Amino acid sequence: MQNFTYHNPTKLVFGRGTIVQLRDLSPAGKRILMTYGGGSIKANGVYDQVKRALRGRRLLEFGGIEPNPRYETLMKAVAVCRREQVDFLLSVGGGSVLDGTKFIALAARYQRGDPWDILSKHAPANQALPLGCVLTLPATGSESNMFAVISRESTREKLAFANPCVFPQFSVLDPATNFSLPRRQVQNGIADAFVHVIEQYLTYPADAPLQDRQAEAILKTLIEEGPRVLQRPRDYNARANLVWCATQALNGLIGCGVPQDWTTHMIGHELTAFYGLDHAQTLTLVLPAVWKHQKKAKMKKLVQYAERVWGVETGDKAGLAIQKTETFFRSLGMRTRLSEYGIEPGDFTELAARFDERGIKLGERQRIGSRQVRQILEWCL
Ligand code: NZQ
Ligand code: ZN
Repeated sequence: MQNFTYHNPTKLVFGRGTIVQLRDLSPAGKRILMTYGGGSIKANGVYDQVKRALRGRRLLEFGGIEPNPRYETLMKAVAVCRREQVDFLLSVGGGSVLDGTKFIALAARYQRGDPWDILSKHAPANQALPLGCVLTLPATGSESNMFAVISRESTREKLAFANPCVFPQFSVLDPATNFSLPRRQVQNGIADAFVHVIEQYLTYPADAPLQDRQAEAILKTLIEEGPRVLQRPRDYNARANLVWCATQALNGLIGCGVPQDWTTHMIGHELTAFYGLDHAQTLTLVLPAVWKHQKKAKMKKLVQYAERVWGVETGDKAGLAIQKTETFFRSLGMRTRLSEYGIEPGDFTELAARFDERGIKLGERQRIGSRQVRQILEWCL
């Protein structure tokens, strides 16, 4: 097992009717900026619940954060923070609002130039406004991690950062807020959480049986509970199980001491930047191609996954695992081929070259360069 430090300071408040606890969770006597997206929280009553819980507090608002939150929009919120001397940020919505809020938190305190450098140049930033969240969409795990992914419209880039200053102080997870989710977002959320586990599990054996079994437990639960949510959208317990799976999938625990991949996510972010696909839509089409391409390198874990998660006992276990995963994604209603989005066999050179420009190689052994990325994309067609 590899060395690791595990530190997750986010307080999770879970369950029906928990938004009212914002009253005690949020700092008293401070100026709070509530951030949100395109209006779902107004339609489903979450906005009213938050306002009620924080009645009497100094509460400002910034709405309009897009899915795949944009730097250009977020910088407007940064200006509000500076002008109004905001002390605390409260994100209310899905992973995009929360990721955007994490960026606002860092950028508002960043004084060394353009905050985009935090993403593009890994410029150090060691201060952030404190933040909390009410999460309305189970998918990203952002509610309990230090990551954020931000898009820049003008350059068609989508980049991630990790910074311990942006762990939310608290996250309120009320599964009842998920009842209003469109089916597409539920499908996306199940797929995203599933692939988060895979990125940390399906690499090569690291003699870390506890992390393996924790990962397999989340995968098996998603395989059971994901379809249950889709079939019975009003089933509170199914919703609750999905929320907890998504949080556990990317809160750092299963990634302790093991190699990690993230190839599917890195290629997926480029597909969103170039073609505007939803985050999870990119994942379900890239993952099977990555596995086919890396089948030999990932053979041992593919076989373990086939046996333990899918109960495969004979035959080409790795091949069957890939097939069963693709069938699972399709059963959720996800597509698994680029051509299904009208993307033609084209030239992926510009997209793949971005990895060279950034000087990064992908995969658990950093062996996937732009040439391999191009091949993988062609296999996605
Ligand atoms: O904008 P509003 O009106 O709120 O509507 C949103 C949005 O249109 C809607 N929605 C959210 N909760 C709802 C709801 N509609 C009805 N009822 C509710 N309860 O859903 C739409 C999608 O929301 P979004 O926040 O974009 O989805 P998600 O949570 O899947 O977040 C995706 C973003 O997270 C990033 C992705 O790249 C993408 O930008 N990721 C962040 C990660 C992290 N921070 O650790 C890891 C992930 O791998 C991922 O990359
Ligand atoms: Zn993801």
